[in-house]
Amino acid sequence: MGSDPVQVPILALDEIDSTNAEARRRAEAGETGPLWITALRQTAGRGRRGRVWQTGQGGNLAATLLMVTDKPPAEAAQVSFIAALAVADLVRTFVRGAPAKVKWPNDVLVNGRKISGILVESGRRPDGRLWLATGIGVNLADAPDAPERPATTFIAEGCDPPPSPREALERLSDSMAGWLGVWENQGFAAIAEAWTIRAHGLGKPCQARLTDSVIEGLAEGLDVDGALRLRLPDGEIRRIMAGDVFFEGT
Ligand code: BTN
Repeated sequence: MGSDPVQVPILALDEIDSTNAEARRRAEAGETGPLWITALRQTAGRGRRGRVWQTGQGGNLAATLLMVTDKPPAEAAQVSFIAALAVADLVRTFVRGAPAKVKWPNDVLVNGRKISGILVESGRRPDGRLWLATGIGVNLADAPDAPERPATTFIAEGCDPPPSPREALERLSDSMAGWLGVWENQGFAAIAEAWTIRAHGLGKPCQARLTDSVIEGLAEGLDVDGALRLRLPDGEIRRIMAGDVFFEGT
């Protein structure tokens, strides 16, 4: 029997450039969190690998959890898998019929289409600890039209009307607190196991687009630190630390 987790405060804004940018500004001004920063509209929402993230007209969730950690940067970055698990819980709460799948490194899909993206940013504080901003965008009502990365929404998946961004964030926050507790108490192996159960495309051929090359292989699974283990045609295992992965149809 555990006690209820302490609720993380929520700073709710109507409009901001990017909740991740706001988290960075606050962290650099000394804010330690934990604090959720959310906005109904982002004018400069950021996606992974320099992409733009569209938040829609106020019906989607855009939120960043700002916190401080003693973990080294590579280990702290594992929080992206925790966020993906929390989003998968959120989807399961509201979208009936189609389970959410997590796709390496940190997309969440329903019926093979992206319903959420996650962007983790971090920086060093004057005291040597890291601030960590886990930015989460969830397509509750609107999705971008991006043929190469097909997207979906809660509405398109039959959850109509969808939860309000606030309701979704409260559910997400509870779930995130639960998975952060698992990470703290049982380590990343427990997170990796839960992620693997929900994973999209493991055992399937895929193309990994890296910064300066494209490689193909079989997606074997998560390594102990969150890297993707890709088996190349010659049998060698390549550890993918960063990049985009495409499976047939996604
Ligand atoms: C991706 O899949 O490319 C990651 C998208 C991350 C979007 C979220 S929305 C809230 C937070 N603020 C941002 O500017 N980006 C993240």
